[in-house]
Amino acid sequence: MNQFDKNISSHASTSTQSARQVAVTVITNILLQQGSLSTQLARHQMDVASEHAPMLKELCFGVCRQYPRLNSIALHLLAHPFEEKDTDLYAVLLLGLYQLTYMNTPDHAAVNETVEACRILKKDWATKLMNAVLRRYQREADDIVEILEAQPSVEFNMPKWLVKRFNKHWPEHLEKIIEASNTHPPMCIRVNESLVSRETYNEQLLDLGINAENGEFSDSALYLRNAVRVGELPGFDDGYVSVQDEAAQLSAHILSPKDGEKILDACAAPGGKTGHLLEKANSAGLSSMELTAVELEPWRMEKIESNLTRLGYSAQLICADASDLDAWWDGEHFDKILLDVPCTATGVIRRNPDIKINRKPADIDDLVIIQREILKQVWTTLNQGGFLLYATCSLMPEENEQQIQHFLANQADASEVPLNSLAPSFATEWGIPVSYGRQLFPHEDGHDGFYYCLLQKKT
Ligand SMILES: C[S@@+](CC[C@H](N)C(=O)[O-])C[C@H]1O[C@@H](n2cnc3c(N)ncnc32)[C@H](O)[C@@H]1O
Repeated sequence: MNQFDKNISSHASTSTQSARQVAVTVITNILLQQGSLSTQLARHQMDVASEHAPMLKELCFGVCRQYPRLNSIALHLLAHPFEEKDTDLYAVLLLGLYQLTYMNTPDHAAVNETVEACRILKKDWATKLMNAVLRRYQREADDIVEILEAQPSVEFNMPKWLVKRFNKHWPEHLEKIIEASNTHPPMCIRVNESLVSRETYNEQLLDLGINAENGEFSDSALYLRNAVRVGELPGFDDGYVSVQDEAAQLSAHILSPKDGEKILDACAAPGGKTGHLLEKANSAGLSSMELTAVELEPWRMEKIESNLTRLGYSAQLICADASDLDAWWDGEHFDKILLDVPCTATGVIRRNPDIKINRKPADIDDLVIIQREILKQVWTTLNQGGFLLYATCSLMPEENEQQIQHFLANQADASEVPLNSLAPSFATEWGIPVSYGRQLFPHEDGHDGFYYCLLQKKT
């Protein structure tokens, strides 16, 4: 158990109840595929008192992170799985098992709260069953886990199909991928170098007792030794710093904005990379770089707006399907394009552990088709001689090198160019080279899994 778990558990007796009830709603909705963990938490965070929010987060992230194990245990304990209409009871059971296995909650309290949760759901008929199941788990936990350890999903705490895919594509990296995907991710921040240098900002952090280390690959990245609330970061509200993984920070360094350029960020929300591009331009003193950000989802568009407002920048924001050029493109070509497509997010499972519950093998094929169409259409909007940076936070070659291979085979005016073509002094020896572009794997104390490939339109 890490320090965070212990802190949470120390106030468990006062905060558990309401946080637990809301956690049941969040987990039920995730199991019913009614939204991701982040959207569900954003929607329901207000349902608990603010001092209970960390507990809610810990329960929801914890159940998702440990889902493959908890699910196998629950199915082993139940004579018959719950019907779909009783998915809320299944969420109650998963939460109970999570508390018993991973938290300091006293066993009797975890069992009582689980039983009480059935009553709150007005499903009193399930109280006896829930009590019996958890009591059996208390007695037989070691034996049950030993039996289930033979299952890859339990051994690796990852859905079996994902373990198979990782093993097929990256056998030499399997252990590290699994290890990094199962941990709490480090908190990485991006210093706004147009306002303050990384060294000066690090000194300011140190003055506040916040220890941080430089990122190795992005010279704007700092890893905090212990996560803090953003409000504790000096100058956060004034745009001095943003929370962004180091691998994600590489895109602005690769694209290296120049004066007079017209740049498109084609799948932009929540605007992390949009903001970084604007920061880069500002720190280079560029006065006439123009940035257009396109995003499909209106509610995610709002996130770009609030991020840019905090940073004090503006861009042309368009809410549209990037692959539907008639809907948004005025016919003016772009010099550079960042195409950070929607993907399986298999490089960032530790930040989105609900992927372990909801992601299915068929999603890869569906996303490959969507990515292919966006890439094909957006390419039209690129100037001759212009550059397009294709990016995903996926570890699936189908979405990455194979996607680019297919594109190059069908697009005669496209060619791959080195990732430092636009910034020759920028070192790009991160991750590993693959047939096209570079693949980064998630690192336990370092960057997330990512993929980059830089393309140029022939003149
Ligand atoms: C990987 S995220 C982008 C992250 C963003 N670049 C950042 O750094 O903050 C992909 C985004 O593409 C959006 N999206 C999905 N399909 C799209 C489409 N057809 N056109 C435009 N945006 C799309 C999603 O809503 C999502 O916000």
